[in-house]
Amino acid sequence: MVTSTVDSAVGALYSQHVNPQWVRLLDLLEMNVRYERCMGMELFTADGRRILDFLSGYCVHNIGHNHPAVIAALREELESCGPAMIQTHVAEAAGELGEKLCRRAGGKLTKTFFASSGSEGIEAAIKLARAHTRRNGLLYANGAFHGLTCGALSLMGDDFWREGFGPLLPETKAIPFDDLEAVEQELRSKRFAAFIVEPIQSEAGIRVPKSEYFRAVQALCRRYGTLLVLDEVQTGLYRTGPFLAGQHFGVEADIVVLAKALSGGLIPVSAVLMTDAIYDSVYGSLRRAIIHTSTFSESSLAMRAGLATLEVLESVNLGQRALQAGALLRQKLAEALRGYEMVKEVRGEGLLLGIEFIAPRSLRLRVPFEAFMRIHPAMFGQILVMRLFREHGILTQICGNNFLVLKAAPPLVVTEEQIEEFVAAVSDVVEMAHTSAAFWSEALGLARRAII
Ligand SMILES: Cc1ncc(COP(=O)(O)O)c(C=O)c1O
Repeated sequence: MVTSTVDSAVGALYSQHVNPQWVRLLDLLEMNVRYERCMGMELFTADGRRILDFLSGYCVHNIGHNHPAVIAALREELESCGPAMIQTHVAEAAGELGEKLCRRAGGKLTKTFFASSGSEGIEAAIKLARAHTRRNGLLYANGAFHGLTCGALSLMGDDFWREGFGPLLPETKAIPFDDLEAVEQELRSKRFAAFIVEPIQSEAGIRVPKSEYFRAVQALCRRYGTLLVLDEVQTGLYRTGPFLAGQHFGVEADIVVLAKALSGGLIPVSAVLMTDAIYDSVYGSLRRAIIHTSTFSESSLAMRAGLATLEVLESVNLGQRALQAGALLRQKLAEALRGYEMVKEVRGEGLLLGIEFIAPRSLRLRVPFEAFMRIHPAMFGQILVMRLFREHGILTQICGNNFLVLKAAPPLVVTEEQIEEFVAAVSDVVEMAHTSAAFWSEALGLARRAII
């Protein structure tokens, strides 16, 4: 049963002129609903449903959807008719936001390049690191997701995303995440400009490294003259408790990339924080004053959105809330899912959590599980996602580079009651996967429809 689809005119135009396969996929998963109003944790659909958001647009909505303070700041900026996109002025709000971000990142990072997306931030980090070190090599971790533009895609930890797009950047090398020996082995060659890595890998399956890993990585990077670039696109802005997830591990990177949550979910913005030394070696003369920039860099609306978002995050202490609510969610999930043979672990930091599933041991479950893995490795996870959405009004997803991990990453404003609701919904769906033939026959139907 499809609960609500976009009306045919809207769906038809989108299909004809934007991306018909996306519409097909959402239809298949019975998730193609029309959202009419989104506030905080809640998304309201045209047919009167209320959906709880446990995905946060992949960590965009840290302060919740359509926060009134961000809307007010954007309105004010628009109504002021101030300078926007003049391209020959000093954007003062960018100075204000840059100072705030650098200070919170720990002080060693003092300059900011603003852009409009996480990928664009990674592209900038690649250029900055190469120009600063005069080396070409780029080291990254298996499973990483750094974005889909050509440079970022060259650092993608899963070949699926690269297939068909031709040769990407040369001199890149993947190593296992959380493996110090592998880092040292590669850095010894002194050919790497940067080790670009997420402090907690998100799309790889919410992978948290050993507590000492990053401090040792930082020491190795210094020893061999490689810059440590932390991709905090999902983990930054208090998602895991501290301002940056790197701060859990006492690490101060040479470059930090922020995006997603910085916009308050309304205006695209990303920020690349760097040291003075890096800035100087890239921009350090009049001739090179705009050697790396972009039309929409420092856009007045983006800067206002960033400032207002930071203000909200801090005025109600959402970092602390992420830690407390995250601990509660993790504990409740772990308790509720204990004993299920297909649940391996609940893990993560703050409100960036994942539930990892594994192949069942019992023959009764192993046969259908393996059959679905053969049809498509994402099939099992997508049935969980679909049932959570359809039967419980919960929006979440599996990780992009690890289909056996289900995300639990709500806006940081999530309440205890909403946590209870999520845990009950997940428990119900997991119980069904372990006991009901209907779960598996539904998967078969989905597989058939996907093949047509
Ligand atoms: C960790 C990480 N880095 C970079 C990116 C790329 O960001 P964007 O989609 O804004 O280009 C993403 C996107 O999901 C991401 O998760």
